[in-house]
Amino acid sequence: MIRHTGKIVFQLADVYFSYPLEKPVLQKVNLSIFKGERVAILGVNGSGKSTLLKMLAGLLYPERGSFFAFDTAVTEKSFSDDSFSKSYHRRIGFIFQDADVQLFCSTVEEEIAFGPLQLSLPEDQVRQRINDVIDMLEIEYLRNKTPFKLSGGEKKKVAFASILVMNPEVLILDEPTNGLDPRTQRWLVELLVNLNKAGKTLITSTHNLELVQEISDRAILLDNHEIVADSTTIEILEDIELLKRVNLVDDYYHRHAGSKHTHYHTHNY
Ligand SMILES: Nc1ncnc2c1ncn2[C@@H]1O[C@H](COP(=O)(O)OP(=O)(O)OP(=O)(O)O)[C@@H](O)[C@H]1O
Ligand SMILES: [Mg+2]
Repeated sequence: MIRHTGKIVFQLADVYFSYPLEKPVLQKVNLSIFKGERVAILGVNGSGKSTLLKMLAGLLYPERGSFFAFDTAVTEKSFSDDSFSKSYHRRIGFIFQDADVQLFCSTVEEEIAFGPLQLSLPEDQVRQRINDVIDMLEIEYLRNKTPFKLSGGEKKKVAFASILVMNPEVLILDEPTNGLDPRTQRWLVELLVNLNKAGKTLITSTHNLELVQEISDRAILLDNHEIVADSTTIEILEDIELLKRVNLVDDYYHRHAGSKHTHYHTHNY
């Protein structure tokens, strides 16, 4: 069963998008996402996952179709209004697939402070928020370091901190576990589960079929730039023929008694 409150966060109807001079990378997208949901976006490389997430995050706009967020129509023009743009980006936090494009300050602390300072909060509140998020993400040891010199996983944590410090209602995460070691992946999954329990809507793209069930109740499958399935995560994971058809799994992938894993050999039974 998919848990949500009934309040719509995003509503897309017949949305198309193409990059300049390219063929459409999103077509006929019809999608409603509700407050409190945990949604996974699945699809092979190039299927349009990051493009869809960037659209939800207000970084790209449909060239056709309608897009509503929090009951308000969103267009490129909406973002020319500074207060709309600020409020949108405060309510919706986006973690890029590549943390490098997200980090630009000279220290981790400045990086995390950047968003709250834009909110014109009193200085002690800004300091409190920064300290809380540094504690939550266990990154005190990185506070005075230079973001671009950090490891991939450390950069990802700092990118998370710079988003969580804004306390967004919606978290959009583009392959958040990519490049993280197994222990850090586990830690991140627990963090995401807890953030959702605290009421945040989670939208995550991932190739990690092992973790997808833990971070989503609903999965949306993109193939050839269209949504080809939108169902419970369990139903989609159990539909091996569908997963094969869209090239998300190969012949070695199968599930035993409800748990799924990949073998590099075949069974004799
Ligand atoms: N800035 C861009 N300009 C032109 N084409 C782009 C741009 N960004 C992405 N594309 C193209 O759009 C298509 C969808 O890309 P997108 O990044 O959304 O895929 P994805 O599903 O996130 O893939 P991956 O799993 O590799 O991250 C690809 O064919 C890609 O080459
Ligand atoms: Mg991508």
